Parts: sequence; structure tokens; C-alpha cells
Amino acid sequence: MSCRIAVFGTGYLGATHAACMAELGHEVLGVDVDEAKLEKLAAGEVPFYEPGLDEVLRRNIDAGRLKFTSSYSEAAEFATVHFIGVGTPQRKGEFAADVSYVDSVIENLAPLLTEPAVIFGKSTVPVGTASRLADRVRELAPAADDIDLAWNPEFLREGFAVQDTLQPDRLVLGVDQVRPGRAVDIAREVYAKLLEDNTPFLVTDLATAELVKISANAFLATKISFINAMAEVCDAAGADVMVLADAIGMDARIGRKFLNAGIGFGGGCLPKDIRAFMARAGEIGADEALTFLREVDSINMRRRTRMVESVRDLLGGSLLGQRVAVLGSAFKPNSDDVRDSPALNIAGQIQLQGASVTVFDPKAMENSRAVFPTLGYAPTIKDACIGADAVLVLTEWEEFRKLAPSDIDSVVRQKNIIDGRNCLSPQQWREKGWTYKAQGRP
Ligand code: UDX
Repeated sequence: MSCRIAVFGTGYLGATHAACMAELGHEVLGVDVDEAKLEKLAAGEVPFYEPGLDEVLRRNIDAGRLKFTSSYSEAAEFATVHFIGVGTPQRKGEFAADVSYVDSVIENLAPLLTEPAVIFGKSTVPVGTASRLADRVRELAPAADDIDLAWNPEFLREGFAVQDTLQPDRLVLGVDQVRPGRAVDIAREVYAKLLEDNTPFLVTDLATAELVKISANAFLATKISFINAMAEVCDAAGADVMVLADAIGMDARIGRKFLNAGIGFGGGCLPKDIRAFMARAGEIGADEALTFLREVDSINMRRRTRMVESVRDLLGGSLLGQRVAVLGSAFKPNSDDVRDSPALNIAGQIQLQGASVTVFDPKAMENSRAVFPTLGYAPTIKDACIGADAVLVLTEWEEFRKLAPSDIDSVVRQKNIIDGRNCLSPQQWREKGWTYKAQGRP
């Protein structure tokens, strides 16, 4: 059965969710306050890089199942199911999350709800937010007794957003234990196709659902910082962190995924989520439980300064007047996102220490330039490497993994390569006379 759905927010999460809900056969309205973004989406253009999303978007616009609007009244009139997919960024100068965009959706939408409806929150929020919003909906909505609010966290990874939405590992739904209402039944209708595919469906209370999301991200961040801490130990002991990761990863209890040592995690989720989690734990009297996340955060931030130091050491102790090529500025491959990108951060630090830095990224050039207009940008790998004293690989795009020494041998000034993502073969570069360096590897 097809549902009429509104999705609030058309960023990475909202735009993907809207397009994928239409792909499941529902009638969907994407809602945002940003008219320019809506215009692009309505024309079938994804305003960011996400493999496969443009086809899903266009197919469903053409089929007439997917439309966009900035009008909340249109959304309230059209839909009986409302998804909240707006951002919850880190507050300026604080660790806590800024939930004002989520609040604003409720403040604007709830007064317009005159018929029965279900609101599903998808944004990552501090625990306790859903129950506060449920109270607020009851105060504001004319049809208050027939409006249910539930929390349905999103686990999508950038670069795999469509796949993660249409073939998720699990669906989690937090419902109000006192007033469960129709949320579970409606979720079963919305996700009927996924449930037919035997996707595990976990129904929880509101707080648990909120915590599932944030604790999953805290665990992933911890796993990455664990292996990066091991890289520091390997550096001190002359051991190889890659071999170590492979070996411990063969223990099924540990697992090899998310054990790639390098310049650490960035992006719009992991860094701000662990900080928001610590801040919220403090507010609810559980701060001691999460003090280890401070360490996870500092191990991660240390990767960036250590990288800058190792480039400086390699270049004889000073970056002044040196030319550095940076391959990769996105926070990870298959994304054009540079939010809290370790790569871009390192490029910036190196330049601030007096080097001339030229960046190439297959997809993130425009976003990088907007954040760091003072860095140099080159249209190809080879152009970025012209005259370079050191080449840094900071995002493991496929085309950098495949790079051969002969591709850039003739243009660099010095044959120095630093692998910030442990994605190259040291042997291949050393055989061709290059100095290869990575962190946590001899
Ligand atoms: C993350 C979660 O994976 C996802 O489930 C959640 O919904 C949103 O946050 P995303 O931010 O898209 O997704 O990126 P992810 O693939 O998790 O990578 C995060 C960062 O960790 C990247 O900077 C990546 O380069 C880094 N990373 C990842 C490592 O440094 N080592 C690894 O082994 C894995």
C-alpha cells in the first residue's frame, strides 16, 4: 500500500530518504526552507555527490511520485506520515548538538496538523529530545490526540546512502511506551518492502532508539581511535599497524572493518556525535560513563597534527617555501563532503606553516574551495604534483590507490610520498626510488 509522506530537510539524509521512499512506491513531498536546493532537486539534480542517488531521484520525479516544496501547509495537507531529516550540527563553541532545526520543524508543522498523522524523527538527537517533542506536539497540534511521534534513527553512510536506506542492516523504531498509538503499524506499511526482505525490525522505547544511533557512532569512532592509538604504539616499537589490524581483525569478535589506521575520522557525524553524546551524558548525570570519548576525540585530533609533523620532518624540519601536493580533501572517498575533513584540515595547517599547498580531489574541489579559498587547486593529479617536494594522499579515492610512480615521476621536484590512509603499496613506490612514509608502519 502506498503512503503519502513528507520528508523535512533535503540534505544528505533527507534527500536520500525522500527519493528512496518514492522508490518504495510511496508518494513523497520533500520539504526544505532552501529554495535554491529545492529547485535543483525538482529538476532532478542532487546538490551533493552521492553515487546512485541521481538515478533514483530522476526515476521517481518522472514517475510523478516525488515532488518538492517549501510550504509546510502543503506538506501538512498532503501527508499522513512526516519524517524529520534535518541536521543537528555541533553548537558554536560548545560540544552539545544544536537541535533548533528539529525544533523548528515541530513548531511549524504541529499547528497545521488537523488530521491523524504520524511523525517519525530520523535526525540524530540528544537522548530525551523525542519525548520532549512529543509533549510539544500535544500542545500545538489541533488533532493532538491523533498525532503519534516516534523515533526511527538513520544509519546511512555517505557514499552508500541509497543502499543503506533500501537495504538497511536493521530498522529501529522508538515509540512512546505510554501512548504507542499507530506508529508501529504505519512504520510497517512504510517499510513493507524492507520487512518482506527480512530486515530485522526492533521496536524500543523512545530513549533507547535515540541512544542506539549515537552509541553506534560512538562505537565506530572508538574503533578507529583504537587502531590509531595502536599506530602510535607501532611507530614507537617499529611495528606495522596494517598487519596488526589484519591479524586482530581475523578474530570474529573484533572484526576487520573500521580498523583502518590513518589520519582519522571526520565528516558531519562521527566527530560532532561523540561530542554531543558527552555533553548530553553530562546533563543527565552520566558524564563519567563517557569520559573515554574525550580520549577517542583527542587521539583522533592528534592524527592531524602528527601528520603535519611527519611531513615537516620529512622535508628537513621546516615547511617554509616547500611545495606540497595534497591528493584528496573529502572526509572520505565517494563523497564531496568536507565537513570536519581531516584531509582539508591537514592541508590548511601545512599551508599556515609556510608551504605552498596544491589540492586535487575528484569530487570535493568546489566545497573545499568554499572552506579554504587560500589553498591552491589543480584540475588533475598530475597538475597538483608539479614541482612538489612531497605528495600527500589524504583520502583513499580509487584513482589514488591506482596511482603509479611513473604517473607523476616526471613532474615532482622530490620523490617523497606520504600515505595518510595506508592505501598505497610501500614496495611499489620504494622500488621506483621514492621515499614512502605512513604512520604506524616501519
Ligand atoms: C557515519 C556512520 O558510519 C553511519 O552509520 C552514520 O549514519 C553516519 O556517520 P559517515 O559519516 O558517512 O557515516 O562515514 P563513515 O564511513 O562512518 O566514515 C567516517 C570517518 O571515519 C571517515 O573520515 C573515514 O575516513 C574514517 N574511517 C573509517 C577511518 O579513519 N578508518 C576506518 O577504518 C573507517
